[in-house]
Amino acid sequence: MKLKRVAVTVILVVMGTTTVLSQECLSDSLRINCYLWEGATQELCEAKGCTWCPSSMDELAPSCYLPPNYGYNIDGPISEIPEGGYRINLKRSPASNISYVGADSEEISTFFYFDSDERLRIKITDNTDRFEVPLEIKPPANPGGENPQYRIEFTNNPVFSFKVIRVSSGAAVFDTSLGGLTFANQFIQIVNKVPSTNGYGIGENEQLSYRHDFSKWQVFPIYTKDDAPLGNKNVYGAHPTYTMVEPDGSTHTILFLNSNAQEFLLTPAPSYTYRTTGGLLDIYIFMGPTPEEAVGQYHQAVGPQPIPAYWSLGFNLCRWNYNSIGNMNATIERTREAGIPQDVQFGDLDIMFDWLTFTYDSNATYNNFSGLPEFIRELKTRGIHFIQSVNAQISSEERRLPWYEPLRLGHEMDVWVKRPNGTPSTGTLWPGGEHEGWDKPAGPGFGGPVHFTDFSRPSAIEWWRIICAQYRDVLDWDGLWLDMNEPASWVSGDVVGCADNLINHPPYTPGITNNISDLTICPDHVQDYGILYNTHSLYGWSQARGSFEAIKPLFGTNRTFQLSRSTFPGSGQWAAHWLGDNFSTWGNLASSLIGIMGFNLFGTPQSGVDICGFYGRPSEELCTRWLQVGAFYPYSRNHNVRSTSEFDQDPASWSEASRNSTREALMIRYTILPYMYNLFYIHRVRGGTVMRALWAEFPGDQVALGVDTQFLIGPAFLVSPVLTEGATEVEAYFPEGSRWFAYRNGAEIEEAGSVILTAPFGVINLHVRGGYILPTQEPALNTMLSRQNAFGLIVALDGSYAARGEMYWDDGVTHAEVQDEGVYFRSTLLYIDGNLTQTVVNDAYQGISGLEMDSIRLFGAPSIISTILLNGEEHTDFEIHLPGNELRVHNLNIPVNSNYMITFLP
Ligand code: NOJ
Repeated sequence: MKLKRVAVTVILVVMGTTTVLSQECLSDSLRINCYLWEGATQELCEAKGCTWCPSSMDELAPSCYLPPNYGYNIDGPISEIPEGGYRINLKRSPASNISYVGADSEEISTFFYFDSDERLRIKITDNTDRFEVPLEIKPPANPGGENPQYRIEFTNNPVFSFKVIRVSSGAAVFDTSLGGLTFANQFIQIVNKVPSTNGYGIGENEQLSYRHDFSKWQVFPIYTKDDAPLGNKNVYGAHPTYTMVEPDGSTHTILFLNSNAQEFLLTPAPSYTYRTTGGLLDIYIFMGPTPEEAVGQYHQAVGPQPIPAYWSLGFNLCRWNYNSIGNMNATIERTREAGIPQDVQFGDLDIMFDWLTFTYDSNATYNNFSGLPEFIRELKTRGIHFIQSVNAQISSEERRLPWYEPLRLGHEMDVWVKRPNGTPSTGTLWPGGEHEGWDKPAGPGFGGPVHFTDFSRPSAIEWWRIICAQYRDVLDWDGLWLDMNEPASWVSGDVVGCADNLINHPPYTPGITNNISDLTICPDHVQDYGILYNTHSLYGWSQARGSFEAIKPLFGTNRTFQLSRSTFPGSGQWAAHWLGDNFSTWGNLASSLIGIMGFNLFGTPQSGVDICGFYGRPSEELCTRWLQVGAFYPYSRNHNVRSTSEFDQDPASWSEASRNSTREALMIRYTILPYMYNLFYIHRVRGGTVMRALWAEFPGDQVALGVDTQFLIGPAFLVSPVLTEGATEVEAYFPEGSRWFAYRNGAEIEEAGSVILTAPFGVINLHVRGGYILPTQEPALNTMLSRQNAFGLIVALDGSYAARGEMYWDDGVTHAEVQDEGVYFRSTLLYIDGNLTQTVVNDAYQGISGLEMDSIRLFGAPSIISTILLNGEEHTDFEIHLPGNELRVHNLNIPVNSNYMITFLP
């Protein structure tokens, strides 16, 4: 039978219902585990109705697996749905009575929604009132569509399965033919056989390679948790999404929109076996077909990050335990004296009174921060912004009343997460007990009681607005650091424990650390959204959203900044991200690239890690190398833990050689900041990454698909850092088909492929890709100063001696929806046949007039340039630099917002 609908072909293949069970063992790689707990035996396995056959080659493959007739069969006619698409009703296959955990739904439905040519949504539900994630998925740019990139095929033999096929290549981007579809109350599973092993994403887990390894039956568990990134375990955020490059280089991104405790198992089929403990299956497939298009379609659906405040893209300094304004100021001063730029200063717990959130230690009771408000005001006159950490966990000790306003008002406005009996959930966190106790290292057992703000409740958003406004009246912060929002607690469950029920102790727990109430609220406690069992991993997401709405009015028309530790799809709309409590190790330096590239896929391009590591003491070599690479993170912040209080790791605390290296790297960051800013603009309007792997630009290059020790900023700026101790050279990969020029001197990489580059202590290798024009600006000690400097261009020519670029500029602080309001400058840049032209597309930002475009660096011209014409007039201030024959043009003095043409003649 064939069904047709506006160019979307659905082929139903019904091949009879008789099932012949093979007597032979299924090959290892195709098995779907039927017994999910430790200690499977033939007896236990067969008692469940599963098939037992010890794995032959792959000892990691399950010996107890599902028979082929496990699953659902089509039940009744297929119907069209008004939104465009099909509904298929399914009934549990009578041939199989296996149940993983009980409470299977006998009847379910699969909905295929043809959202657009690029986007397909597949929803599988038992049609009961189940939890759905309250994330608003934005409508597609071009709804409906005439030429879908996909078609769907399905079969009912021996059970229902379907394939989503890319029309252009025939690759099955989603294929459930291995079986395994399960829909039970607390256990849902779908197995997706994938078309290649080039998969990336899924989080948040520390991943040791960017490209997924399907050979090891590895599990990526997902459940937000306050835990240092060590291996694949679940940490701060929840991102059930991956991007896959298909054999022909086409790329798709898939989101499993679900917030329960869940996991992806990577099997050698290759497949992603997806399991979740609640909600339903709500799967979005973004067809790309280029990597940036696939990821960009995803970003547009979940909501992209607004254009960040320009200052937040500068260098950020932070540490836990300056312990006094004196120490904080000394760090700022030595940074400035070393000529190292700084745009942001952070305050951590130590500025607070007894570590009580929303306070500061005005009387120097514990630490000396008296005078902090004046200090912050003074910093601002120098162009340094201030960001303060806050927690959603509010100390609930009686002795704090009545003076501790967040608690008093919180009670009054009824803002807390509740126990099932309606009293506030109570965990523990700082501060607790007497102050002396806090000289011990922080950790479980050292907290006092806290209540947890319920950010899904309107009264809590209003309460947050009030206490933030009061706090800002005292400390004039420019942004908030949303910490501990997994939400973390130092007791598991509640101070009175968690009830013994199936919600708190579900029949199946994914491979997360310990259990679902480990160091967090009991799963049966309640928010307005519903029980934490469903909403736990949305906590940081809801805080970022609620807090963003609450503090926006405090900033008038200005952008604010939030940095959130816990994230979920869509979080980028309200907060940037850092990857939590990493270690000062070479391994964590290397995995930082993978983590940040992952968050660029997830839609929070402004991400970074604690440069030089949070825990532990870095060597000068490690910290210097880390500062070099951290200078090119989309979000660049140095931060470390309090237990190393005797030890500083800020850039100016190291030797002169180290300081020189950091200064140079950060000055390059500030130089290319206009280029990076334009990437954030593109992300906002079209989606896409700021920091990306080589494969994002070269998906057809088999080597590039595996490179995760280098990264690109946008399409054109390649960073090849040193990531190992003692190394003074790096092996860097330069994909064929592009020209690559050394950033510092324009020297061209002669032969594509793997190249050994020298990398002495103070040097990080940076290359510009031919074919691109990068807007730049003279750097300075912060962006308040650099934004007044002259602009420039780096023009790197491709094999046809052409290059393209674009520039976006605005005041850097007005609400990031300026692109809608039009108050910005935008131009396109083109170099072709020796002519460089700027065409102004939008010239509505007044602040740009008066600024000049002054200099050009031209890489890769076909012959030595001897004459330059600026709008027809000869311009003589230029020189050629060897070894790359880089042409440097100076003193152009062109209004940056003008149309111009510069001609380069041999
Ligand atoms: C945990 C955060 O991850 C860390 O960065 C911060 O310094 C401490 N909390 C103290 O606020």
